[in-house]
Amino acid sequence: MKTILVPGGAGFIGSHTLRTLKASGYNVIALDNLSNGHRDSIENTVELLEGDIRDRNFLNTVFKTHSIDAVIHFAAFIEAGESVKAPLAFYENNVAGSLTLLNAMKDAGVDKIVFSSTAAVYGQPENNQKLLEGAKKHPINPYGDSKWMVECMLRDGAAAYGLKSIALRYFNAAGSAPDGGIGERHDPETHLIPLVLDAAMGVRPSIKIFGNDYDTPDGTCIRDYIHVCDLADAHVRALDHLFALDTGELDTGNSASDTETNTGFYDAFNLGNGKGFSVRQVIDTVKEVTGTDFTVENAPRRAGDPAFLVADATKARNALNWRPQYSDLADMVRHAYAFRRRHSSFKAA
Ligand SMILES: NC(=O)c1ccc[n+]([C@@H]2O[C@H](COP(=O)([O-])OP(=O)(O)OC[C@H]3O[C@@H](n4cnc5c(N)ncnc54)[C@H](O)[C@@H]3O)[C@@H](O)[C@H]2O)c1
Repeated sequence: MKTILVPGGAGFIGSHTLRTLKASGYNVIALDNLSNGHRDSIENTVELLEGDIRDRNFLNTVFKTHSIDAVIHFAAFIEAGESVKAPLAFYENNVAGSLTLLNAMKDAGVDKIVFSSTAAVYGQPENNQKLLEGAKKHPINPYGDSKWMVECMLRDGAAAYGLKSIALRYFNAAGSAPDGGIGERHDPETHLIPLVLDAAMGVRPSIKIFGNDYDTPDGTCIRDYIHVCDLADAHVRALDHLFALDTGELDTGNSASDTETNTGFYDAFNLGNGKGFSVRQVIDTVKEVTGTDFTVENAPRRAGDPAFLVADATKARNALNWRPQYSDLADMVRHAYAFRRRHSSFKAA
């Protein structure tokens, strides 16, 4: 049985991926400093190593004492607005942390990694078209830059050291495990669906729409929401893809390898629903699912918010044979609501 180390496993997407990895027959070890993760998101069948990816001695011990076959790396600071206020903290955690992890992997002879990247590497799309992986990389905040810098390390590590990596560029992760057992708990929460649910549950007094005069059918911004269980499934497929490279089952036509001995691999895939939903549609769906009405306020546009940000995920569909199972917005809202209702910290004061 192959063993996968999962830095950031106590977080939102990481904890769902642990479940899917277990269900797919992998042995999993979570690694997390619990800065933003939750111990109770890790089910008792999974070992949690508490520590930091910036701590090289800790990582050396982890790789020495466990036989790790591959890494799925979620550990990062994620809030783009915060990254503008504290860029160095983001570069330190996201870039230096990933560099320390990659060096520790290299020294331990672990050559496979699936990396959590983001739509933020693209920055502002030039038009209202779905984004393809080849679109220009012009991040507009240190968060997006930090993720693109790690992708550059992966690309260059393929050619130089034979590193095999896949960067998955998620759009907006949403929903939760359908049983409501684990879910989204960011602090502070900045993601739209949980914020609107908070308004529906009376945890916040209202929800603001930032701009209702965009060039979209209802004037509000359109985003691509992808269910967290579909993201988890894509990670396992990406991992299988990397393992298949060893057995020669896959054509590595786009390998970054530049020597005969270093048969590295780096590729990037968008993970999105391919369907955009407007802010107004999200609010209406939350009202419908929860059966609650709440105050909606119109506020001015925010700087840097594009009108339309939607993935073209055809490449992941073709190469990873990935098909989102929960592409309905109402399912994402229903599952997120089930988790928030179960979790006491979201109850109104
Ligand atoms: N949530 C989204 O919509 C979204 C979209 C695109 C990309 N991503 C990326 O996906 C990944 C996971 O996002 P999430 O929403 O689950 O975030 P999250 O904050 O819930 O999870 C991140 C986890 O990493 C841990 N962590 C952070 N720094 C660490 C460090 N130095 N050492 C060890 N652990 C550390 C945190 O404690 C947390 O458990 C992130 O890399 C994020 O950039 C998320």
